Amino acid sequence: MMFSTSFSKCFIGISILSSLLSPVLSAANTSPNSTSDPRIIYYHGTLTERGKHISLLPLINNSSDIVVSHLILASLQVWPPGNEFEGLNVWTGGWDTPINASNLTEFWSDKAQLQKNGIKVIGSLLGSYPSMQLANESTWEQEYKYLHDGLKTHDFDGIDLDIEDANPQRTPRSITLNNTIRLIDSIRKDFGPDFLITMSPVASCLSSKCSSQGCISGFDYKALEQQRGKDIAFYNAQFYNGFGDANTPQCYEDIVSNGFAPEKVVMGVPSSPSSTECSGWVPWDQLQKTLKALNTKYLAFGGVFGWEYFDSEPGGQTAPWEWSQLMAQWLGVSNATNVKPRKETACKSKNAVKFRA
Ligand SMILES: *[C@@H]1O[C@H](CO)[C@@H](O)[C@H](O)[C@H]1NC(C)=O
Ligand SMILES: *[C@@H]1O[C@H](CO)[C@@H](O)[C@H](O)[C@H]1NC(C)=O
Ligand SMILES: *[C@@H]1O[C@H](CO)[C@@H](O)[C@H](O)[C@H]1NC(C)=O
Ligand SMILES: *[C@@H]1O[C@H](CO)[C@@H](O)[C@H](O)[C@H]1NC(C)=O
Ligand SMILES: *[C@@H]1O[C@H](CO)[C@@H](O)[C@H](O)[C@H]1NC(C)=O
Ligand SMILES: *[C@@H]1O[C@H](CO)[C@@H](O)[C@H](O)[C@H]1NC(C)=O
Ligand SMILES: *[C@@H]1O[C@H](CO)[C@@H](O)[C@H](O)[C@H]1NC(C)=O
Ligand SMILES: *[C@@H]1O[C@H](CO)[C@@H](O)[C@H](O)[C@H]1NC(C)=O
Repeated sequence: MMFSTSFSKCFIGISILSSLLSPVLSAANTSPNSTSDPRIIYYHGTLTERGKHISLLPLINNSSDIVVSHLILASLQVWPPGNEFEGLNVWTGGWDTPINASNLTEFWSDKAQLQKNGIKVIGSLLGSYPSMQLANESTWEQEYKYLHDGLKTHDFDGIDLDIEDANPQRTPRSITLNNTIRLIDSIRKDFGPDFLITMSPVASCLSSKCSSQGCISGFDYKALEQQRGKDIAFYNAQFYNGFGDANTPQCYEDIVSNGFAPEKVVMGVPSSPSSTECSGWVPWDQLQKTLKALNTKYLAFGGVFGWEYFDSEPGGQTAPWEWSQLMAQWLGVSNATNVKPRKETACKSKNAVKFRA
């Protein structure tokens, strides 16, 4: 996920922006069933636009056509003791919004409605910078407490670990594999077996064949999968910004060949060209071909995520839910309404870049 902003270092790669019902994994340590529908996921990073709350209710307001399985809030960040914004914060266009801020009230209300309708809501944590990888024993405990209390108080169904800061363009420091495992173990112990723990690596972290740009998490996901795969519900792999490609099934197939089960790998794509300044934008016909091929090839294709909700095409800002309906049709998820791209969605960015810090 990449947040599109010139926000300086504090912000992690996320352009966040940049990462489903039943789905699939109700318990993190059971393997998904091949009869489950592929996940359809929205990352949600823009909570307000010009002061106006972005409603999530269109995703559930027609009882017969709920197709989204997960909504992932992007993003949470823990600021360490002593920081001006100490505690758990939510991105609202800046990192200065405490989790209990009054301008999040409408989001929490929508979130509860989604959950009542079977959509799992996950909080994405920008896990590598600036605090947890630098934490010593005493600050780690305090930072974990902030995270724990925020996830509990706001009744999240899971956490997504978005670790993408070992990018040499930003900082070589990153959270270590050991600290990631420590975090996963603490969460599993405190939140129980059904709590979803997901990761959102760039695709090239799951197969080096996906891109000559390497992994930007600072550790090897195969080692993580070997050690804690049973705790990781699925991987929201970013197939954009030059770290992967959704124009063909190849990169996804390389990831599967590299040992990752297709039911655990979600193909992440921009749901609007502007969300990644066109980087990784795939024309509708092409994306449809890729997704249908993967869904046919693998009995339990892991699904698709869109970055990000508020301006998702083909509906754009007036109908961002249409993207999920389109994905649902292509993936054969029941009850999708008959949304069609009215025309090809043009890449409108003048400055397409490979990666935004
Ligand atoms: C999913 O279905 C398969 C085949 O029907 C079955 O063998 C497997 O145990 C099921 N997996 C789970 C996690 O329920
Ligand atoms: C669902 O929400 C959309 C967008 O707000 C609206 O256009 C549509 O009429 C709503 N449908 C129902 C059944 O409320
Ligand atoms: C709800 O129904 C309206 C009217 O049929 C449709 O325009 C809209 O796309 C639907 N909402 C969702 C989330 O599918
Ligand atoms: C699909 O629509 C039918 C009939 O309206 C409804 O009973 C069923 O629950 C819906 N399924 C999903 C997955 O929304
Ligand atoms: C939300 O409120 C916090 C303070 O509680 C503020 O710092 C932040 O800028 C606000 N966000 C928006 C989008 O208004
Ligand atoms: C948020 O929590 C902090 C720390 O507990 C408290 O000082 C602050 O008053 C709370 N803000 C709101 C809006 O509830
Ligand atoms: C831990 O780090 C904090 C913040 O950098 C520092 O104030 C504190 O002294 C450190 N504690 C230990 C035990 O090193
Ligand atoms: C990671 O943890 C393991 C097991 O506790 C330990 O043996 C290993 O030395 C640690 N690695 C690093 C780099 O700290």
